[in-house]
Amino acid sequence: MNKIQYIKSKYNIPQETKGEIRLPISRWKEWPLLLNELEVKISVEVGTYKGKFAECLCDKMPSVDLTVVDKWEAYKGYKDFEAHDLETIAYNQTVERSKTCGFKIIKEWSLDAVEMFADESLDFIFIDGNHAFRHVVDDIDSWYPKLRANGIIASHDFYRNRYKKFGVREAVPAYLDYLAIDTYFVVAGDKCPSVFWIKP
Ligand SMILES: C[S@@+](CC[C@H](N)C(=O)[O-])C[C@H]1O[C@@H](n2cnc3c(N)ncnc32)[C@H](O)[C@@H]1O
Repeated sequence: MNKIQYIKSKYNIPQETKGEIRLPISRWKEWPLLLNELEVKISVEVGTYKGKFAECLCDKMPSVDLTVVDKWEAYKGYKDFEAHDLETIAYNQTVERSKTCGFKIIKEWSLDAVEMFADESLDFIFIDGNHAFRHVVDDIDSWYPKLRANGIIASHDFYRNRYKKFGVREAVPAYLDYLAIDTYFVVAGDKCPSVFWIKP
């Protein structure tokens, strides 16, 4: 399947359109259904927090084989969550969700967990860990070899947030330029968009 052509047809986007293509869909509703249509099965979420999005993917994607990666540990310079909330509440909630949803948990740092996966073995990688520019580039660059050709890689919180010092909006187009990829999609129906592209 030519996934870029498929998505453009589905959303009535002229086939010659390139660059950033914004889709009027929510990551919680239409996006998992689109991922089903794009034949996504073996998937990894990097950064899962309470496991809510993992639960959503498992609910809406009957064939998904999902592994979540998170260290659930506060660390220097990472201020997005309070330590007790992250290390106890979020971790415990994810464990409970995994029991009903069936996803696997790897409690590890992103860049250590990536070594546990074979190259070109994954259909879908959703990166939602540390959103600082350097970490986004590190995560994408480390996980990208694990994606198979025609697989889908995504990064969440694709918007400018200088207060939180997010770098996703800047890092992803820079990395795509480095890869010479000229077409990517934004899941633009929510307040916090995700961005994804297809590996050639
Ligand atoms: C924004 S939350 C994830 C939210 C989740 N994807 C969702 O949609 O509900 C970010 C998570 O990334 C984890 N994280 C941050 N840096 C990490 C790293 N270097 N390795 C592993 N996990 C990390 C944090 O522990 C936190 O739970």
